[in-house]
Amino acid sequence: MMPSKHFELTEEDFERFRKLINQTSGIFFDRGKRDLLRLGLTDRADAVGAETLTEYYEQLTSLPDREVELRRLLDHLSVQETQFFRNLPQFDALRKYVIPEIVQRKSNGYRNLRFWSAGCSTGQEPYSLAMAVLDVLPDAESWNIQILGTDLSENALAIAERGWYQERKLTGIDRNHRERYFRESDGGYVVAEPLRRMVHFTRHNMVTDSLPVSIFGTCDFVFCRNVIIYFTHETAKYVIEHFFDILNPGGYLFLGHSETLWKMSAKYSLVEMGDAFIYKKSLPRSIEGRRFIPDRRLRGLPMPPDVVTDRRVEGGRRNVRQAQDLVDSKSPEVDSGINESKSAQADPLIMKARASIDLGEYEKAIELLNDAVKQNSDTVEVHFLLGLAHERSNDLELSVEAFRRAICCDNTYSLAYFHVANAMERLGRFKSAVMEYRNAAKALKQDLPSRWELDLDAFDIDSLVNLCEWKVENLGSMET
Ligand SMILES: C[S@@+](CC[C@H](N)C(=O)[O-])C[C@H]1O[C@@H](n2cnc3c(N)ncnc32)[C@H](O)[C@@H]1O
Repeated sequence: MMPSKHFELTEEDFERFRKLINQTSGIFFDRGKRDLLRLGLTDRADAVGAETLTEYYEQLTSLPDREVELRRLLDHLSVQETQFFRNLPQFDALRKYVIPEIVQRKSNGYRNLRFWSAGCSTGQEPYSLAMAVLDVLPDAESWNIQILGTDLSENALAIAERGWYQERKLTGIDRNHRERYFRESDGGYVVAEPLRRMVHFTRHNMVTDSLPVSIFGTCDFVFCRNVIIYFTHETAKYVIEHFFDILNPGGYLFLGHSETLWKMSAKYSLVEMGDAFIYKKSLPRSIEGRRFIPDRRLRGLPMPPDVVTDRRVEGGRRNVRQAQDLVDSKSPEVDSGINESKSAQADPLIMKARASIDLGEYEKAIELLNDAVKQNSDTVEVHFLLGLAHERSNDLELSVEAFRRAICCDNTYSLAYFHVANAMERLGRFKSAVMEYRNAAKALKQDLPSRWELDLDAFDIDSLVNLCEWKVENLGSMET
């Protein structure tokens, strides 16, 4: 719909709108895009009945439901252009070199392949990845393949979830793929079940949310194409650092055709494969053949200047310095303000153990918590944190034991069920994992939405329930 009137964008408003948008999404409007920004703002201001853009700014920053409007605005301003098999040389390289290399490395161990399509828009990228894997993996059913598609746009994600596209959107798909992976529906085409089982979508803002590695796990492939091009250099750099920590050693980062890490990160190696350029997280000799322990800096990674964290994350992101102060403190009666909303977690011992886990000091946390158990304070939180500490140090069997003990103390402690399921999956016991994910979904559905704010970061209970249900489907076909 055409807006009913002309809205002026004053210099002052231009500056504050673009700051707000940059802080909350990473997207940056330079002077050349001023009119584009004005048009986008005009649509939203008109939709909410604001008289001027100054009034719209006030609404956007002071109304109780400002978050909802801010999401709508970001949705409206983000460029969601995408297509199937976009940048074909990269897909050729993926099929010819990259997937075979990772498959060969993993074929004698836990056979899983994990992709993260960050900024997946309406889903064409993750579905193309699913097709590319099936193209080259003849025994795909013996592999656990998971593709996570995330975006900040809820509208784009709704289209991705539905998986229905008009014929004109199928450019890039040849007849063979169309016949195998799409069926005609409602005058268009819908993505077939084998692809859907591999792909899961959830909202995630890569600038303000941290992706909980313990929930989705680390990845072999990150695709973040045609996204950082809209960010400032500083924000792009921050996001790229984050990807490094989420990638498994030996994993690959795919950027868009015109995006480069030049002057941004020297941690990755640039690899030329056919006509494509791809970045690789090198496999250090010292850890070759050993399990990867997630980088301890992940949780406390500093935010780029000025970034505003998502409301749900704000209370949850634990600050590394606060954690360090806590761990260093001699007295258990430290008042740091961390976790102050939860009475049980206000226990100084629990706070200290949590802080040690956040700092990656798992042994220290385990020692503290085991002492607590010996002194008869074996509460649900103590066992849960023991589970987390063991899980992060890759002692999965011990973590399962501890999480089960937490469930014995309190059988409504739903996140413990999730972690048991996750550990079973990582141990390759897929039948048990499926059963445990079912239990976890059931327990989570009965839980309070706010209970796990601190532990879930960008996820909320609903998206975790969806993830469990997807895992049940995704792992259901595995043999063991
Ligand atoms: C141009 S599309 C790229 C889609 C796909 N990756 C491709 O290359 O075809 C950019 C997408 O990034 C998303 N995006 C922008 N900023 C984001 C952020 N901070 N977090 C998550 N997604 C973001 C937009 O909503 C949009 O859907």
